[in-house]
Amino acid sequence: MKISIALPSGRLLKDTKYFLENVGIKVKEPDSRELISSLNGYTFYFPRVFDVPVYVENGVDLGICGSDIVLERKNEVYVPVDLPFGKCRMSLIVPKGKKITPEKMEGFKIATKYPEITQDFFLERGVKVKILKLNGAVELAAKVGIADAIVDIVDTGNTLRANDLEEVYKIIDISAVLLVNRITQKTKFDFVNDLITKIRKIK
Ligand code: PRP
Ligand code: MG
Repeated sequence: MKISIALPSGRLLKDTKYFLENVGIKVKEPDSRELISSLNGYTFYFPRVFDVPVYVENGVDLGICGSDIVLERKNEVYVPVDLPFGKCRMSLIVPKGKKITPEKMEGFKIATKYPEITQDFFLERGVKVKILKLNGAVELAAKVGIADAIVDIVDTGNTLRANDLEEVYKIIDISAVLLVNRITQKTKFDFVNDLITKIRKIK
């Protein structure tokens, strides 16, 4: 049986490789600029991490990415289990010293890579904000002042400190998650079940 897995290129890759090895799947990284590799019946794909769910929804058996990405896609993909790495949080962040609650942010411009999560967060509170969608390095927008606040991931907090920013509200805890294609879940049931059992033992 062949299994395809979409892996998160970027900062989650190292922990993902280590974790998969612990459940018996040795990952091979591709040579040079290639985006696919194969080993022991597994085929590994290396899309941008934000696109991992797109691959799993469109036929790739398994994927690993952050729960932030799944949430932003409104949970369209099947996530059977959280993984014990990639732990961080998503927060609402403002320039340091500007003590303010989300309820007081009516009319604010909020920069983020996560427009859906941000919109829902403020809608739930009945606060109208303007969202500025960026593709990364979001802290810069708050630092430069093209946005009043940002919604972004905080891990060590180093990026915030380096840019004179601070969290005012934790929106949600984040971790890496396993994604399973809905057809794979049925046609390769024993494999998927066995993998999830192994993962639960490690957690
Ligand atoms: C992520 C995230 C924060 C930072 C958090 O950015 O968006 O900026 O890491 O980590 P820290 O709290 O340990 O500093 P990343 O560098 O992955 O890239 P991007 O924002 O440009 O996508
Ligand atoms: Mg960043």
